[in-house]
Amino acid sequence: MFRVGYLNGDRIDTTYSPSNVIGKCCHEGLKKYFEKTQEGIEEGEAIKKAYEIAKMHLDSHSDNLIGYNTIASNRSKLEERFAFCFFGYIKDFGYKNNIKEILLVEKMLEHKIKVDGKLLPIPLKGSADLVTRDKDNKIRIRDHKFVKNFSNPESIDAGKLMQGVFNFFLVWAELKEQPYSIVFEEFKVTQNRDKGSSQFKEFEIVFSENSLMFDFFYRFYDDITNALLGKQAYIPNFYGIYDREVSILSYIYKLDIVKEREKQFKKAKVDNVTDFLKKKIQKRGAMLKYLESVSKNFVSGKTLNYKDMTIQDKIKFKLAEHGIGLEFDSMVVGGSVTLYRYEPSIGLKMSRIESFVKDIEQVVETSGIRILAPIKDSGLIGFEIPNKQRTFPDSPPRNAGFELAIGATIMGDTKYYDIRTAPHLLVSGSSGSGKSVFLNSLIKQLMQIDNVDIHLFDPKQVEMSQFEGGNNVVDYQYNHDSIQSSLMNLVEVMNNRYSELRKSKTRNIEEFSGEMKYKFVVIDEFADLMAGENTLNAIQLLAQKGRACGIHIILATQRASTKIISGDIKVNFPTRAVFKMAKAVDSRVMLDEGGAEKLLGKGDMLFLTSEGIERLQGFNL
Ligand SMILES: Nc1ncnc2c1ncn2[C@@H]1O[C@H](COP(=O)(O)OP(=O)(O)OP(=O)(O)O)[C@@H](O)[C@H]1O
Ligand SMILES: [Mg+2]
Repeated sequence: MFRVGYLNGDRIDTTYSPSNVIGKCCHEGLKKYFEKTQEGIEEGEAIKKAYEIAKMHLDSHSDNLIGYNTIASNRSKLEERFAFCFFGYIKDFGYKNNIKEILLVEKMLEHKIKVDGKLLPIPLKGSADLVTRDKDNKIRIRDHKFVKNFSNPESIDAGKLMQGVFNFFLVWAELKEQPYSIVFEEFKVTQNRDKGSSQFKEFEIVFSENSLMFDFFYRFYDDITNALLGKQAYIPNFYGIYDREVSILSYIYKLDIVKEREKQFKKAKVDNVTDFLKKKIQKRGAMLKYLESVSKNFVSGKTLNYKDMTIQDKIKFKLAEHGIGLEFDSMVVGGSVTLYRYEPSIGLKMSRIESFVKDIEQVVETSGIRILAPIKDSGLIGFEIPNKQRTFPDSPPRNAGFELAIGATIMGDTKYYDIRTAPHLLVSGSSGSGKSVFLNSLIKQLMQIDNVDIHLFDPKQVEMSQFEGGNNVVDYQYNHDSIQSSLMNLVEVMNNRYSELRKSKTRNIEEFSGEMKYKFVVIDEFADLMAGENTLNAIQLLAQKGRACGIHIILATQRASTKIISGDIKVNFPTRAVFKMAKAVDSRVMLDEGGAEKLLGKGDMLFLTSEGIERLQGFNL
């Protein structure tokens, strides 16, 4: 319910008791009344306006939402009681007597606060009904309460403590001046039996004299934060089980935790709960040490300085502002990016985090942050943040056989991949993203393998010309017509290989015992060849059937439109090296998800295999 009501701000309607309805409507009216008064409107006029608003609210409550009872058994009794309370309250409150100035009227406040040098991970939110500066120059927070019975000032009330402490912090942050007290302005909804006595009572808690309030708040705040982080937390119902005072004090002093209880008993030199609580209750009015530390370390949201924070804190607190609880786990500093890993709170929706990427980029002052929610094979959430200074990996050691070095992982390991299992590799990325450098690194490795044929098709004419006549390079073409006939030749080779396989009753090159070399067909800039129908057909045939007879294609293209990357191509090229793309939509064509638009260029890639997506830095061999 805390999550629903406080963090998400959802409200759930149930039926209301008559005193509830009266309280709500009177609040609306009083809000208007104090606003008008603050504007300097004449008293009678302010009351009239206020009453209209309050009555309108009352009328908007349909009968089926009201649980009529002895306080009001029907609509007309409700209206009567409401008018009694509304006018009675204004009369008895008599604000002019000791109030000098109205400072705030039911303003929704939200501030981040720091206590004992630590920023509380969730900002405080709330509103005070009325804040005044009084003739004694003190700031008082005033809360209108419509009650069935007056509160007993001698007993501790968890609700009031919590409300008081929230308002204390919020009003202080808002006004930059410490409030003196919170005053519960209680108006009794039911008529007193002796009609002469007052329906109205003030109950004041002076902050500097109430350490309990702050002690209570800190334990409660810790527990809520832990609960949001998915840790075990015990949050008692203060109105249940125990009588209030005992339960609250037990809670504050953590008597529910055996170790803490033993510590507390030792300190207080007692051996049982009763004696312990007796001691504490006697001391509860004492001037508090907490308030001192609070006043020293308090900053309001407005003066909160993200600049002094580490990056891991910036991310944590930025998301905390939005009600998302994360706990920093660890970080990995890679050559191009640093990965920050966090443990999410229970029930956190992964897709929610991604919508805050802009906010995080703003506070970290770095664009291109990629969010991994979750990080593959883990329960953690990752934020990949580009490093200010980028370093490129050294050339990797050569691995055996067809395991080619694709790129360096963020951990600095080399990712090797058996290029035959691709079985065909699609390489894409905008101009200058590193496609050709990547193709070249693969070609150089293929040139070192025995018994391999390399076919290079280079419609851009310059990207692969350096390899013409190189080891294993059996064909290099740049002219469109020659490319077309070479590709058609390859289809013929493929068909011949199939008949050979059939004759020897084998299914593929691995089972075949005769002479059959692996062939790698590298095409730089596929889009340039789209116009040739025969070319396209040949590529498609090779992609569909090449694998079994040892023919593998590596196809590069700048363009990621679905027109170029057709469904047929997508099916036959399940393995993809995706370099920086212009837009998230391009990334989606290639990877079925965004992310490639966040890459840094110069060989920074997302490598998609059947295992998933991995970020790699390509080698410039
Ligand atoms: N792995 C890498 N390491 C370091 N620098 C690289 C790497 N890959 C690319 N670069 C740098 O980026 C430049 C452009 O790379 P490349 O020529 O491969 O781009 P491209 O994607 O082929 O672009 P186009 O589509 O225009 O042909 C290179 O000249 C080089 O300076
Ligand atoms: Mg290129």
